[in-house]
Amino acid sequence: KIMQGQIFGEAGSRIVIEELLEGEEASILAFCDGSTAKLMVSSQDHKRIFDNDKGPNTGGMGAYSPAPVVTKEMELRIEKEVMLPVLHEMKRRGTPYTGILYAGLMIRGIDFKVLEFNCRFGDPECQAVLPRLETDLVDILLACIEGRLAGQEVKWNKGAATCVVIASAGYPDKYQKGEEIKGLEKAAKMKDVVVFHAGTKKDGPKVVTNGGRVLGITAAGLTIAESIKKAYDAVSLISFEGMQYRKDIGKRALDRGK
Ligand code: GLY
Repeated sequence: KIMQGQIFGEAGSRIVIEELLEGEEASILAFCDGSTAKLMVSSQDHKRIFDNDKGPNTGGMGAYSPAPVVTKEMELRIEKEVMLPVLHEMKRRGTPYTGILYAGLMIRGIDFKVLEFNCRFGDPECQAVLPRLETDLVDILLACIEGRLAGQEVKWNKGAATCVVIASAGYPDKYQKGEEIKGLEKAAKMKDVVVFHAGTKKDGPKVVTNGGRVLGITAAGLTIAESIKKAYDAVSLISFEGMQYRKDIGKRALDRGK
């Protein structure tokens, strides 16, 4: 598809052969003010469309936080060996980086490799991470902009959050738009639940689908298990023609505890 079908255009005309990295992926995002990086709580995305990581890659079908594959020791190493060297080098080059730095990591045992950097929040990681933030986000972002992040408190709750993405039929290939979405209000009224709209639009009194990833249903809980259950309870209230979502968001974290 990439080379012959040119689904990514010119990018598919050249191949880079790299070492295969085995392991479990996790995302670590950090607030940065040019010199200081403050790590957010860890999270894990689910990139494939179907359960058990089957099918093609997507923008992300769900996320949970924390990701137990990332230990406390690893977080310290990620700050020291990944985030800070990037900030120091960017500053040395005269282009200090202020904003969100996202490191996509492949973790194997106690070791990790950086797969990618993004200069933004992750989607859907953001929907699982930010509900756990206790400090006002605006205070943190202002501290980033004004270069005083070192003195800014960034407090997280000790609970968990899970986001389940609901997508249109056919996604990540061609998908249908304009399907009426039912149950949004009921789901949004649930305690500890937030319904994030991604690919939706208003059509008179109705809300209809307008994208591949349509909604991110996030629930907070004291544990990952509790947040998963609440998120799926909320998902069960929502319906539209052909909707698809993964049924195993967070399963890896639960399996780890067994
Ligand atoms: N969830 C992957 C990304 O935001 O790039």
